Amino acid sequence: RDNPLVLGIETSCDETGIGIVRGTRLLSNTIASSMDEHARYGGVVPEVAARAHLEELVPMIRAATSDAGIRLEDVDAIAVTYGPGLSGALMVGVGAAKALAIALGKPIYAVNHLVGHVGADVLQTEADPGTEPLEYPTIALLVSGGHTSLLLVRDLVSDVELLGETIDDAAGEAFDKVARILGLPYPGGPQIDRVAVGGDPAFIRFPRGLSHHKDMEHHRYDFSFSGLKTSVARWVEQTRDAGETVPLADVAASFREAVIDILLTKAVAACTDLGVPRLLLGGGVIANARLRELAVERTDAAGIALRIPPLSLCTDNGAMIAALGAQLIMAGHEPSTLVFGADSTLPA
Ligand code: KG4
Ligand code: ZN
Repeated sequence: RDNPLVLGIETSCDETGIGIVRGTRLLSNTIASSMDEHARYGGVVPEVAARAHLEELVPMIRAATSDAGIRLEDVDAIAVTYGPGLSGALMVGVGAAKALAIALGKPIYAVNHLVGHVGADVLQTEADPGTEPLEYPTIALLVSGGHTSLLLVRDLVSDVELLGETIDDAAGEAFDKVARILGLPYPGGPQIDRVAVGGDPAFIRFPRGLSHHKDMEHHRYDFSFSGLKTSVARWVEQTRDAGETVPLADVAASFREAVIDILLTKAVAACTDLGVPRLLLGGGVIANARLRELAVERTDAAGIALRIPPLSLCTDNGAMIAALGAQLIMAGHEPSTLVFGADSTLPA
């Protein structure tokens, strides 16, 4: 049917996101984050995230329906993230979504979180009439604290291929871990950005993971950040052992450059190799100013059209899940049966 009213539930990590859309129009994007509770552990603690979702979900659903000016019983369908993500966290959202669907007698759509990031783009087109709808196929680079994935999206609702992903830490996780090494608080991304101001990105050439010739056969589009993190740790330790002060701005800028360089090198290579002149960015790491700057530079040079949704649609949110659900409905997809579970390692 046309323009379905869909409520989307996102609980794959530390954001409890409720989104409400009518077709491609965003009505509400309501979010609670348990980030502060994780800060003292230096990273997201799965158990803490799951408990926070349990507490926040009902208040967030109430806040979202009131924000959107709708009644819960008016929704046409529920969409929910069932993977990938933290399994306990996902289970809270999936359980709540099923209960809602049964109580309201409405269909439910179980959706993939990564594809949801791509689905968010339709909301941008609607919000800003100047933007043309995203064309397919497109390459999508999704970078957050939980994932680092490169997708080939031929069709949003039926043909998404995972080209590559991180084989160890996610890019955001690398920012968080390196921030910790440098004595900066969590989350690390914004902190690294802050101290990198004025730093020399070429001060130290930190390793770019999986970029050697020998990696190109099996890991052409995969990422690795744990070697980079170790390399920063070793450099800092040796500098301190030598009795010298660590040039924070230079180390932060050099580390950030290494992450961003490899992300964009592989994303642009995928566009070029596969003849797809479009790149969509998504995930919380997109907040990085240097990443945005270099993305513009590299895509311009390669003749690739670059899409960067507004940050509120890049970080984990329920609106992207609702938007993907609405797209599935409008494309005539059948709803999910109520027997699906949470799949923490669901591929794209
Ligand atoms: O998408 P997101 O909000 O959700 C989770 O993955 O939970 O992403 C959060 C991640 C964190 O790892 C954070 O350090 C990183 O995104 N991040 C950044 C920046 N802002 C947030 N990384 C680099 N530069 C930033 N400015
Ligand atoms: Zn995400």
